[in-house]
Amino acid sequence: MPVNTIPPVDLVRQYKLISDEIDRAILEVVRSGRYIGGTVVSDFEQHLLEYVGSSYCVGCNSGTDALYLALRALNIGAGDEVITTPFTFIATAETISLVGAKPVFVDIERDTFNMDVEAIEAAITPQTKAIIPVHLFGQPVNMNRLMDIAQKHNLYVIEDCAQATGAKWGDHIVGSIGHIGCFSFFPTKNLGTCGDGGAITTDDPAIAETIRIIKEHGSAQRYYHDVVGINSRLDSIQAAILEVKLRYLDQWNEQRREIAQRYHQLLSPIPGIQLPQEIKGGYHVWNQYTILVKNKSNHETTTRDNLKQKLQEQGIISMIYYPIPLHLQKVYENLGYQKGAFPITEQAAMEVLSLPMFPDLSPEEQEQVAYALKDYCH
Ligand SMILES: Cc1ncc(COP(=O)(O)O)c(C=O)c1O
Repeated sequence: MPVNTIPPVDLVRQYKLISDEIDRAILEVVRSGRYIGGTVVSDFEQHLLEYVGSSYCVGCNSGTDALYLALRALNIGAGDEVITTPFTFIATAETISLVGAKPVFVDIERDTFNMDVEAIEAAITPQTKAIIPVHLFGQPVNMNRLMDIAQKHNLYVIEDCAQATGAKWGDHIVGSIGHIGCFSFFPTKNLGTCGDGGAITTDDPAIAETIRIIKEHGSAQRYYHDVVGINSRLDSIQAAILEVKLRYLDQWNEQRREIAQRYHQLLSPIPGIQLPQEIKGGYHVWNQYTILVKNKSNHETTTRDNLKQKLQEQGIISMIYYPIPLHLQKVYENLGYQKGAFPITEQAAMEVLSLPMFPDLSPEEQEQVAYALKDYCH
């Protein structure tokens, strides 16, 4: 591989910029001897809820746990259906299955990769209890329209904000619009820690309290267990790191937006390539910069795969999120969806390519990416 490799994400660069603060925060926890819970966790929960604009925040072990806990708190289970997108990370649907409910998919919009809100009503049945919109790649779903539909049909809305911490719909930060917001602090997320972490936001005190109980082995009072729960803690060390990083989140999101602008300028127009767009009303935080590479190949390997390979030969590592839509995954064969059920999603899975994107990506690196891309496409 060439020496000047451009990775999809470089976490070390970010760490080096704030290493003094991060090291100090970690050491304080280690020296305190208080490794589980404590004010370091509750302070971060407080600051995150203030940032998001919700009334309550509960930290947990991961974004996956956040979704699971949200569904449990809403008492969603066997016999219930939850509508979501087939173009997302498995956790979104997996947690619906884990609580015993059935994921019901709707197709996406080609321009945003987000669930097509206008397709939701046709998927609603008497069993439908909730909708999980995913703000994919950092782009918010049209939450006005989605909340109207949810209200009309009396459905809960759980926002999957894993890839979109700090994104906004109108003036509202995602996670404060639906009934519950679920966040992931996986290292590559916009607010990522040095391990796993997650959080739930809500305005409903009863939901917040139920989530606290379920994530602590189903107990409000130690050693008294009222429901079957799990152990899902936001680690104290991770909370201390997140507390530092939360202060930089807006700046990093702005840097991502500048990088997206520069990609737009460098890459348009290139025949056969569709660039991602920010929809009106939304504030996109660009967890990914994902292009569509029009397929001209009749073979197993798509034009996108060939381009990915060519970029890699020049040291540029791109990613495919996601190669197989959820309705075509082996695990969901039992749901009975056939190939062709969601044509836009299926075409996107063949054509998406996420280019290197992180706040400290340099203009020179972006130029290198653009040069390689143009070279291949022309
Ligand atoms: C859209 C989406 N939802 C949920 C998750 C799950 O988050 P975690 O990895 O923290 O469990 C992810 C993480 O990749 C994600 O991208």
